[in-house]
Amino acid sequence: MPIRWGKGHQQMSQSGGPLDQGRRTRVFFAPGRINLIGEHTDYTGGLVMPAAIDAGTTATVSAREDASLAFASRDYPGEIVFRGDVLASGRIEIIRRSDDGWGQYVLGVLTAWVEALSAMGRKIPELSGLSINIESTLPQGAGLSSSASLTVLIAYLLDALGRTELPRSALVRIAKMAENDHVGVASGIMDPFAIAFGREGHAIFLHTDTLDHTYVPLAFHPYELIVIDSGKRRTLVDSAYNTRFGEAERAWREIRRIRPELPYLGALTPQGWSTIRPMIKDPVLVRRVDHLVGENERVREARRALEKGDLPKFASLLTASHRSLRDLYEVTGPELDALVDTALSFPGVLGARMMGAGFGGVTLNVVEPSKRDAFVAFVCERYTRLTGLLPRFYRFQIADGVREIRLPGTPAR
Ligand code: GLA
Repeated sequence: MPIRWGKGHQQMSQSGGPLDQGRRTRVFFAPGRINLIGEHTDYTGGLVMPAAIDAGTTATVSAREDASLAFASRDYPGEIVFRGDVLASGRIEIIRRSDDGWGQYVLGVLTAWVEALSAMGRKIPELSGLSINIESTLPQGAGLSSSASLTVLIAYLLDALGRTELPRSALVRIAKMAENDHVGVASGIMDPFAIAFGREGHAIFLHTDTLDHTYVPLAFHPYELIVIDSGKRRTLVDSAYNTRFGEAERAWREIRRIRPELPYLGALTPQGWSTIRPMIKDPVLVRRVDHLVGENERVREARRALEKGDLPKFASLLTASHRSLRDLYEVTGPELDALVDTALSFPGVLGARMMGAGFGGVTLNVVEPSKRDAFVAFVCERYTRLTGLLPRFYRFQIADGVREIRLPGTPAR
């Protein structure tokens, strides 16, 4: 069976290339992200450890004749076109729209950006006569955060084009608000934060309540991280993601009644939880909190393991995270379980787990590079036999967060 390396891998060897100065374009790039560990904890104020990658979303901005602000996508059909000349008065007017749903993200960010500026008493700039063409090297709905890559990209380019100079943390909030309020997904802060604050060669140890964060250098040698797309798709909108969010909220309401001084669910320690646990009657909520409390501990331990260069320990925490997401948080599903179990049955794999929201999407695997080809062949054969799905394999570089790509010969802005 041929090895199916995904687009993100090919893109690594194709970066750079000639750029057309004559058109006076500006180019912006927002990465996708992987999450090493800390899954489903970010909407409870817990700990996560994501990193930005070198695949992502690119926007090329060029001038157009009319007064509109027009967004088009190379990967998805249609366009969404706004009146740019009325933006300064806080009005968002769509002139025409033919997108198949992706325009909702653009509309959401534009709305959240205008609202944020208004709330700060800031002037909203006019942005007219601009065409923005978007393209992505991220598989959509795979768990690499294609949607936050798009929302952070739009927030960043609006800020850059309009010279509003908001701090990155404000752009993160705008991107999150767009997805929560306009797309209808109760997603947490991890993805936009990682995409805005990523640093080459580092993971971000992030406290999602305070947004306090430290950078953890990543050195996987003599192993490497391989991301595998299960080929099973889900969207956050139609997955049980919002159900899990609701269960975490319900658990928090019960726990707060018992421990009113606790500031948020993610602050619950294993000791604290062991005293409350017998008082929670709903076994579903108990399982959910068992995961959340255990996962926060695993994030702490994973950071220590990485700092000590203890890769076997780090990888064993990934596998433990998967088991917890499977048995306690129940967000894996047969395909992700089959993919992780298959990977773990291959000698030369230190650890593996599902990554992102779950229910489909990708897994993260710590693999010996010398065994890479055999691993890929093994997983392809077994996984396809078990599920009928074709996996795709990616090796990403850990990269910087959202940025403008300076075109050769252009002065520094
Ligand atoms: C999705 C959400 C994140 C986070 C993960 C699960 O990626 O966008 O906010 O909740 O799922 O950890």
